[in-house]
Amino acid sequence: MTTNIAILASGNGSNAENIARYFMAHPTVNVSLVLTNSQKANALQRARNLGIPCAYFSKEFWQDGEAILHLLQAYQVGFVVLAGFLAKVPNLILQAYPQRMVNIHPSLLPLHGGKGMYGDRVHEDVLRCGDKESGITIHYTSEVYDSGQIVAQYRCEVKPDDTVDKLATRVHALEYEYYPKVIERLLSLL
Ligand code: GRF
Repeated sequence: MTTNIAILASGNGSNAENIARYFMAHPTVNVSLVLTNSQKANALQRARNLGIPCAYFSKEFWQDGEAILHLLQAYQVGFVVLAGFLAKVPNLILQAYPQRMVNIHPSLLPLHGGKGMYGDRVHEDVLRCGDKESGITIHYTSEVYDSGQIVAQYRCEVKPDDTVDKLATRVHALEYEYYPKVIERLLSLL
């Protein structure tokens, strides 16, 4: 049986595209929808280029989540993937996808996580703290930012001459390699 995935993304969408490409010819997984809370999100264009239905919902819609949940149900979405999604997921949607919604964070949670910790701010904080390693955390989504049950973590070195850009590139490489595979593994267990 095929599982339909929806990807939620607010920005560039490179993870969204990478995941969509990974599952393109997959026998049992179909990326059926890309949703965003930002009209400017490059993720929308990436979805269009790949022929994946996509939609922008303004802030009001993300508050109660009703219309978005209806759309997810209309597309028979069985699993939700957050990839650089910066708004809070409405409780209605969280409750509709228990253990069926994951997020990725570009550090080794619980380090450098929480509200306001996203993008370059995370890497800046890692460098400021003098950490010797960083990495990625894939976790189930919960009501509190970056605090759901951890599914997987992958590590990389922080080098003495690292800049935010260099570290971000190294962390992104981990995201591209592992996020689709972890999603695939979780789906195989459903
Ligand atoms: C990634 O680093 C991800 O870990 C974080 O936001 C970033 C999104 O990058 N949650 P992109 O939009 O997929 O390029």
